Amino acid sequence: MTREPAGALAGRVALVTGGRGGAGRAVCQRFLTEGAIVFAGDLDDGGSLGTPDAPGTFLRLDVTSETEVQTAIAAIRAEHGRLDVLVNAAGIEMELTIEETSLEQWNRIMAVNVTGTFLTSKYALPLLRMSDHASIINFGSYDGYIADPKLAAYCATKGAVHALTRAMACDHGPEGIRVNAICPGYIDTPMLQQFYPEGVSAENGRAEAEAVHPLRTIGTPTDIANLVNWLASDEARYATGQLWVLDGGLSAQIQQMRF
Ligand SMILES: NC(=O)c1ccc[n+]([C@@H]2O[C@H](COP(=O)([O-])OP(=O)(O)OC[C@H]3O[C@@H](n4cnc5c(N)ncnc54)[C@H](O)[C@@H]3O)[C@@H](O)[C@H]2O)c1
Repeated sequence: MTREPAGALAGRVALVTGGRGGAGRAVCQRFLTEGAIVFAGDLDDGGSLGTPDAPGTFLRLDVTSETEVQTAIAAIRAEHGRLDVLVNAAGIEMELTIEETSLEQWNRIMAVNVTGTFLTSKYALPLLRMSDHASIINFGSYDGYIADPKLAAYCATKGAVHALTRAMACDHGPEGIRVNAICPGYIDTPMLQQFYPEGVSAENGRAEAEAVHPLRTIGTPTDIANLVNWLASDEARYATGQLWVLDGGLSAQIQQMRF
């Protein structure tokens, strides 16, 4: 006897870009637990975590390459004929002011964080139209609302992703395609660990970060996966065009004096 898969995403086909990074990997894992068929698109099978023993089917995908995006989408079309969920989690960060940012670096971060989201969404749309449960989840950031010092280009990319999310939601809502962005604060992934100043251990960096949050903790990839899973599921059927901040209260609080 064959058993139907159980879970909020049973039988749904999902593509997660950056699917081998800290957040993307947790999303892939959660989607599989919920019964989805998961494709993890990333530059290499180890991604930022460097280990290939990760969930879902790996699809080699540079989101800045129109050809590679088209090839990845064609592979999903050939196997399943539709796509239900697209998660645009691929992203890079650069710790620089605008004076320190070369034009090449500016173009690179725009290409990955903004153009990548544009390209995967553009080429996924025909497959998403074949779904009765289509949902796109982009990765913005609280840095798209308020700025961390020395993250100028990164902040600009996330602001662009927020605006693109709203625009896509308006254009494709009438076709039954929901588009939302998740806007994480400090999430304990390789990207955040790189952000701690040189000479500060991951443990001390984490303690420092925790202290400035109302909840006195930073987020985990599982926290991200929980929200992304909800946005992908039918429970979120009325949710579109929104920017879902997940930051332990960080952006709700005025900066505290430290004495
Ligand atoms: N970690 C945080 O605190 C935090 C906060 C706010 C937003 N975010 C956003 O969350 C998303 C995931 O970040 P993360 O923390 O998991 O980072 P991460 O560095 O662990 O993962 C990012 C993944 O994207 C992949 N990637 C980079 N360039 C790519 C490209 N051209 N094509 C395909 N894949 C590419 C990397 O290989 C990596 O696996 C990013 O968009 C990031 O900006 C993270």
